[in-house]
Amino acid sequence: MIHIASTPQQLAHDVAEWIVAEADAAIVARGRFLWVASGGSTSRLTYETLAQAAYRDRVDWERVYVFWGDERTVPPDHPDSNYGMTQQALLQHVPLVEDHIFRMKGEDDPLAAAADYEAQIRAVFADVTPRFDVILLGMGADGHTASLFPNTAALNETDRLVMANFVAKLGTWRITLTEPLLNLAQNVAFIVAGEDKATTLQAVLHGPYDPQQLPSQLIRDPLWFVDNAAASKLNK
Ligand code: 6PG
Repeated sequence: MIHIASTPQQLAHDVAEWIVAEADAAIVARGRFLWVASGGSTSRLTYETLAQAAYRDRVDWERVYVFWGDERTVPPDHPDSNYGMTQQALLQHVPLVEDHIFRMKGEDDPLAAAADYEAQIRAVFADVTPRFDVILLGMGADGHTASLFPNTAALNETDRLVMANFVAKLGTWRITLTEPLLNLAQNVAFIVAGEDKATTLQAVLHGPYDPQQLPSQLIRDPLWFVDNAAASKLNK
């Protein structure tokens, strides 16, 4: 399903509305909402919108559990931290329970941080299938999602749920959820905005299946929330 919004602002409102509805449904059905947040600038606008009273006041935040799809190998107060961005845009404005915020420890050794995060996920799911209610993902202009970058080792992982992934083109390690875990989710939704993503979005959706080059293609049957600019090159 592809939802096309007229502007990035409208896109943020549409995604916020969807998250509120999914949170309510999960809490009614299972007593809690298990949500994986994305990093990146596109999702920041969604979080800022979700923090507005019109959305914030419709979520039972005490029953919300927040995780991240990936993290940079930096401390939480670093400007590049996905946790830090989410904290500023949303978390500090809503009454979440501290124990329900699961931060990837980007300041630690990435291999240890990935193993620790996987253990935390497995503990929350109490050893049943780790099926998140909602996983939000962004998409880079190179087709990456989370920190699953083209031609990197994490793309081929079939067992681990979380991995440290060396990204040669960035010259840095990342911590990322892996394809097996992402594809277990009840709902995976991409949020993609901007002209610079239009060619890649067309290739991911309608081009040949080539997940080594376009890792976003690894995600089965996601929802796509995109703006007009990002959708401008989709097959008419
Ligand atoms: C990260 C993100 C990454 C991001 C995309 C899109 O840590 O960088 O998780 O996967 O979602 O790169 O980023 P923008 O929304 O800033 O284009």
